[in-house]
Amino acid sequence: MIRFENITKKYPNSNNKAVSDLTLHIKEGEICILVGPSGCGKTTTMKMLNRLIEPTSGNIFIDGKNICGQNSVELRRNIGYVIQNIGLFPHMTIAENIATVPKEKKWDKDKIAKRVDELLELMELDPKIYRDRKPSDLSGGQKQRVGVARALAADPPVMLMDEPFGALDPITRSKLQNEFLHLQEKIKKTIIFVTHDIDEAIKMGDRIVVMKNGKIVQQGTPNDILSSPADEFVENLVGGNRSIKRLNLIKCEDAMHKTLSVKMDSTIKEAKSIMEENGLKTIAITKENDILHGYIKLKDVEGKEGMVGDFEKEMEATVEKRMSLNDALSEMLRIGQRYIYVADKKGHLKGWIGINDILNAVSDND
Ligand SMILES: Nc1ncnc2c1ncn2[C@@H]1O[C@H](COP(=O)(O)OP(=O)(O)O)[C@@H](O)[C@H]1O
Ligand SMILES: [Mg+2]
Repeated sequence: MIRFENITKKYPNSNNKAVSDLTLHIKEGEICILVGPSGCGKTTTMKMLNRLIEPTSGNIFIDGKNICGQNSVELRRNIGYVIQNIGLFPHMTIAENIATVPKEKKWDKDKIAKRVDELLELMELDPKIYRDRKPSDLSGGQKQRVGVARALAADPPVMLMDEPFGALDPITRSKLQNEFLHLQEKIKKTIIFVTHDIDEAIKMGDRIVVMKNGKIVQQGTPNDILSSPADEFVENLVGGNRSIKRLNLIKCEDAMHKTLSVKMDSTIKEAKSIMEENGLKTIAITKENDILHGYIKLKDVEGKEGMVGDFEKEMEATVEKRMSLNDALSEMLRIGQRYIYVADKKGHLKGWIGINDILNAVSDND
């Protein structure tokens, strides 16, 4: 979808190349993160894509078309752009800010008004309340949401995001990151996202491009970067706890095993025979529709009779299938147990994860 071919940028007043012979291919619908220390050339690379900066040499193609031959104003209208801080025009209302590109594209008034409200709703800002406000009346997080809405206004296939959440406090930041990932599942834009924060890169990226001194030092999936950093520079950038960070990338549903369960109205005899046949020390108890309810331990029912409900223990913790293995590990440590049950959002039992699954997930001999 996007190809940088041997791109070099040397600013006239500088001796060094800000970007040096960079070749990079970005696939349609992916979030490609440019990450690296301040001054490594991330913003310069990004701005060459919408021609806010012209390369010194090399070519850039979008959908096979060389952008150098295109009208730069028209090009920019088809690329959404979200920047840190200076995002919004302070003298305009929120609605006017969002409407910037649709207006330039000469959409009719009703279509613009409808699109503005639709985007405000998408960003969880009530149009009736926020439409006519000025940016100064909004919190940092709200401003950034409006910034994203403005970039999406004319539904461009490509979005550039330059440290979009950099100025926010950690809690708001994490919330907006999650919201944005959720949104991207629906809108499937091709996104180039710049950050100097490797943890943000790991969380947000389908692919990570690590830059240093205007060059790419490594590119790959977050798991590639964490499991095999190309050199000491990347290793230091990624920091300690590489294995723990990898656990964040794996969802419980991708590591869990199928599990057996018994219904609340089963007899102890039935439950015991299932446990003995399958070598289980515990078994989950479900109510109607496989909703997880509790569990029993084999040792508690040794020599006992009756119904499983009489010996049921309350589930101290479960994880949701979309949570990460890191969440699963934290819960296991919290309750001091070597396994944990996995349920979906509505509580239906889906499987279990053991401590060994977590060890296997981050062992390097795969
Ligand atoms: N307009 C400019 N004129 C001269 N040098 C610049 C200009 N913009 C950026 N640079 C230099 O180019 C290099 C890369 O900058 P930049 O792309 O902004 O890096 P990053 O976004 O990774 O922090 C830096 O050394 C920076 O000082
Ligand atoms: Mg920058």
